[in-house]
Amino acid sequence: MTRPLRLGIAGLGTVGAGTVRIVQTHAELLKRRSGRGIAIAAVCARNRTKNRDIDLSAYDWEDDPVTLARREDVDVLVEVMGGADGAALDATRAAIAAGKDVVTANKALLAHHGQGLAEAAEAAGRLIRFEAAVAGGIPVVKALTEGLAGNEIRRVMGVMNGTCNYILTRMESAGLPYDDVFEEARQLGYLEADPTLDVGGIDAGHKLSLLASIAFGTRVAFEAVALEGIGQISIDDIRRAGDMGYRIKLLGVAQLTGRGLEQRMSPCLVPAESPLGQLQGGTNMVVLEGDSVGQIVLRGAGAGAGPTASAVMSDVIEIARGSRIPTFGQPAASLVAAPVARSTSPAPFYLRMELSDKPGALAKVATVLGDEGISIDRMRQYGHKDASAPVLIVTHRTTRDAIDHAQKRLPATGVVQGQIVAIRIETV
Ligand code: NAP
Ligand code: HSE
Repeated sequence: MTRPLRLGIAGLGTVGAGTVRIVQTHAELLKRRSGRGIAIAAVCARNRTKNRDIDLSAYDWEDDPVTLARREDVDVLVEVMGGADGAALDATRAAIAAGKDVVTANKALLAHHGQGLAEAAEAAGRLIRFEAAVAGGIPVVKALTEGLAGNEIRRVMGVMNGTCNYILTRMESAGLPYDDVFEEARQLGYLEADPTLDVGGIDAGHKLSLLASIAFGTRVAFEAVALEGIGQISIDDIRRAGDMGYRIKLLGVAQLTGRGLEQRMSPCLVPAESPLGQLQGGTNMVVLEGDSVGQIVLRGAGAGAGPTASAVMSDVIEIARGSRIPTFGQPAASLVAAPVARSTSPAPFYLRMELSDKPGALAKVATVLGDEGISIDRMRQYGHKDASAPVLIVTHRTTRDAIDHAQKRLPATGVVQGQIVAIRIETV
């Protein structure tokens, strides 16, 4: 009889403890589905005496994740500590060098070291699987590497950071400013230890870069993701966008064109009634477009113990079944370094600006936009306050370059006060 697949779990926080719980509660089910038992040989965390509400008495304890990774009785290292470098990187490298497969939930680690780790794993005949690293419980890595493997992928897009989606939807539903909801999210424990990873779009950018690699057969290029966070989004933008029939989402888009690989993670407006517009709270949504399949929409919990551990276990079962899919769906050496392309695909844009309340002000704005080839679709002017009035403009399809030029020229008209907000509108 085949012996059980033995796990060494490094990290016993939200994801690690959730993983232990699934192994303990679903032992029979896992055995039926894997064709062999799944056992935990040893675990590791920083603090041995911390109460984690799980029974760890049957497992050996290691203080050092590298020692755990090298143990003879560990077949698979489950790396759920986090961090792009340090213990996570050391333990992953040690596991591969010692002939173990690795399952990780760590998008930062793979966004920064994915190529090198994948090459090392393949050279050693080992696997790295990372379903939990992107969009928590949503099986998007498997959708790309398996279910859609026969497609040329045209575009990958989605909302991949639950914390940002929570903040944006809560600002709208409670009518609260960004700073208040950010503080609420902190108290609810939603924010990463370094909150800029969430609100700066970095965490979601990590995830997008990993999906892009699988989708397009390109090397992971996190440093090439055009990143913009949600820190500049005001309650005014959310309300005004709502008045025009839109919601603001931190949206990632990746596509490979003749010019190269475009990857951007930035706040976008989406129609309020669209699937993305309806996405509430910490939920994630990933949209995949393939040449044969058309559009696939995957929606579900992007974080939390249960959903993320569910994804970790799907990788463990894949390994137990003997599946040998390379890290990014094809041999690491065959991934190409695509040139970085700035997004030039035209889209409608939402513009918000404060205009001086004097004759000809709107005409001056319209002239600059017209000079840049930007055509106005809809416009709304709000109640005047003092000597100015907020104006919203939705343009017809235009390019980011045209919008950037117009934004640079508009202050010289002498009628625009303060900052001009320009947000791309995506119609999914
Ligand atoms: P967490 O709750 O902070 O847990 C981290 C665990 O790692 C803790 O048990 C900690 O030990 C242990 N650890 C950290 N550094 C260590 C070291 N040097 N040596 C030994 N143990 C160490 O984190 P998490 O939320 O479970 O996230 C884990 C990973 O999953 C991260 O890469 C994260 O990005 C990813 N992820 C998380 C979620 C989620 O919903 N939380 C979703 C998707 C992906 P102590 O407990 O003793 O401090
Ligand atoms: N901080 C991440 C989020 C956790 O909010 O989506 C899951 O990766």
